Amino acid sequence: MSKNYLEAAVEIAQEAGKVLREEFARPPDIAYKGDFDLVTQADRRSEEVIVARLHKYFPEHAIAAEEGTGRESASEFRWHVDPLDGTTNFAHGYPCFAVSIALAQGDTLLAGVVYNPIYDELFAAARGAGATFNGQPMRVSKNATLATSLLCTGFPNHKRQAHPNIHYYWDFTLRSHGVRRDGSAALDLACVAAGRFDAFWEFGLKPWDTAAGVLLVEEAGGKISDLAGEPYRLGGPTILASNTLVHAEMQRVAAEIARRDPAAPLQR
Ligand code: IPD
Ligand code: CA
Ligand code: CA
Repeated sequence: MSKNYLEAAVEIAQEAGKVLREEFARPPDIAYKGDFDLVTQADRRSEEVIVARLHKYFPEHAIAAEEGTGRESASEFRWHVDPLDGTTNFAHGYPCFAVSIALAQGDTLLAGVVYNPIYDELFAAARGAGATFNGQPMRVSKNATLATSLLCTGFPNHKRQAHPNIHYYWDFTLRSHGVRRDGSAALDLACVAAGRFDAFWEFGLKPWDTAAGVLLVEEAGGKISDLAGEPYRLGGPTILASNTLVHAEMQRVAAEIARRDPAAPLQR
């Protein structure tokens, strides 16, 4: 059953990816949601394609889409859609962004796809069926220590002047091979699933940022929790995703940072 959902999600993500490629070739058309949060014609056009197609295939299902054009429904099935994850990169012409589509049944994620249309990289997973990268099985890395890890994180657009994550960024940078800040949480999670990064953490992400990536990481053999080690729920205040092997060490260091620095609490 999940297979059909996944096939639909893959087809739709690739369709939306075509729209993003077209829009990326044009001069950007930027507007603002609030003071800092960008939105472009590309976010809107991509969402239009995704919501129309999901609604056509699964008319009963609820759709939660970032730009607000989804649909409510009493169904226990809910699609989480980020039509363009990495809008700031997109708007600056930096080719690091993705489409993220996931289906949940109640609290259980069934299918997830993250698609980078510029590199034509497709990360996909269905619950219990493993994860793939461009059709080939994908696994998390085997690196077992923080000191030899490559990590990634992100910062929210709002409250960027004084965000506690800068304390974690600083500390984890000194204790690892480095911390990348690529600007697309969906791709960050996909890269943990693909073994490119050993771990990822962030504060304040929305369900559409993480739903697909969480399933990718789990199905690729990785672990997901919040930064304090409690179970992660979509939209929760923090997320920690790892190859499993460095999870406990990441948590220990996060707890140490929070203890040492009152400006960097573990929950926001
Ligand atoms: C953003 C990206 C970014 C993360 C931000 C998100 P958007 O999503 O995922 O990596 O740090 O918190 O809001 O706005 O580009 O869809
Ligand atoms: Ca996003
Ligand atoms: Ca977005």
